[in-house]
Amino acid sequence: MKEKIKDSELMEKIISLCKRRGFVYPSSEIYGGFAGVYDYGHYGILLKENIKNAWLRDMVQLREDVFGLDSAIFMHPKTWIASGHVGGFQDPQVDCKQCKARFRADHILEGFGVVADKMPLDFLNTELDKLRALGKLVCSNCGSKDLTSARAFSLMVKSNLGSPVDALTEENVTYLRPETCGGIYLEYKNTLDSLHPKLPFGIAQVGKAFRNEIAARQFIFRTREFEQMEMQYFHAPTETKKLYEMWQNTRWQWYLEYGIPVEKLRWYKHEKLAHYASEAYDIEYSFGFFGNSFKEVEGIHARGDWDLSQHAKFSGQTLDYFDEETKQRFIPHILETSVGLGRLFLMFLDQAYTEDGEGDDKRVFLKLNPRLAPVKVAVFPLLKNKPNLVAKAREIFSALRQEFVCEFDDNGNVGKRYRRQDEIGTPYCVTVDFDTVEKDDMVTVRDRDTGAQERIAVKELVSYLKTKLT
Ligand code: GAP
Repeated sequence: MKEKIKDSELMEKIISLCKRRGFVYPSSEIYGGFAGVYDYGHYGILLKENIKNAWLRDMVQLREDVFGLDSAIFMHPKTWIASGHVGGFQDPQVDCKQCKARFRADHILEGFGVVADKMPLDFLNTELDKLRALGKLVCSNCGSKDLTSARAFSLMVKSNLGSPVDALTEENVTYLRPETCGGIYLEYKNTLDSLHPKLPFGIAQVGKAFRNEIAARQFIFRTREFEQMEMQYFHAPTETKKLYEMWQNTRWQWYLEYGIPVEKLRWYKHEKLAHYASEAYDIEYSFGFFGNSFKEVEGIHARGDWDLSQHAKFSGQTLDYFDEETKQRFIPHILETSVGLGRLFLMFLDQAYTEDGEGDDKRVFLKLNPRLAPVKVAVFPLLKNKPNLVAKAREIFSALRQEFVCEFDDNGNVGKRYRRQDEIGTPYCVTVDFDTVEKDDMVTVRDRDTGAQERIAVKELVSYLKTKLT
């Protein structure tokens, strides 16, 4: 029986489990922390890697029309002028004059039911003034009513790569990329010339992005340094509608395949579009972590020919495509799927976190899809002071770790070892007992979710686990 966890508690419980069990730590903690930045520990990197590999497998490995890329974080300064980021990648900032807390104006207004996403500053300030007049515009940090108007704040993170700080101009500032797709547009031509794909085709990459977020206070949901998994699909403009639907369907199914229940997902259609977009939908997930509110995990955008046209214009290069069949030359249009790896990490933890039992039987477990679980199998000798049990368990552990991420544990009693593995989401625990070494060469395999136990012959163990884990 899954116990009902109060929403307010879930956020605390997940953050605490992440730190206690080595998934996620606040960055630079010994110096008092560094806002909006997190470090991933041992189990965190394993889970993150599994999510990334699941995405790469479905987006690249199992497709013939999508190619991989790992472009550099630093790119020519003109990239972000051409894309419009230098002039326009801004969020509306409101400051509390008393405690200096910073807020996003659109987030404040959304709390009052005003649709404020991508609205101009004039509109936001008019709406803020209405709240101010009613005495409802209050700092959520200190309670002061002394808040500034909204002003544009650039999200771009500057570096001085290659230029002394005092010689920086708008043309030579090197930015840390705010989204990974910029690298994909710049490698469209090399991909075309080296791999010779026909339209439609995609380029996918996973990598770091950096944004000077105004309000990065939501654990790993919104951070200043994060990883994106983006795919840009180049196609003829006549095919946009059909292919957009195909990608919407493909990405929706991906969430179901990895165990997200359909009722916790929904589409959000953007009415106010970015200057380049002709269609934009988000896949939203209902986070228990945020009191069951639906929040964006992935965006699917029709970007037209904006990106390649801009880079052709600013670089002076030809970025068009010649279609051998129709004998037409044109700039391909782009469909994008874009998702944050940290945000998926939080979504999977949110979905997996489960408590059951009572009193001494109470347990916390992560009901993660076995393909995503950081550790797949744990191996225990029943007793730590029986050398023959320990030797046999070690032998099995050595064989299994060639195939799966495994752990060996002989600390405390078997019940405690189960609890430790449950908390990190290990789907199977294997126990070596006296019968294993004296009678039947079989082990007990215990299932994380049901607690059911089965006796399996040691020689069948790898194939048994392989079937279960895939
Ligand atoms: N190339 C399009 C693009 O970057 P976006 O809506 O700004 O679009 C896409 O970002 C996805 O990246 C979001 O749906 C979210 O999952 C993730 N993301 C964006 N900003 C983030 C942040 N500050 N922290 C964590 N993830 C973020």
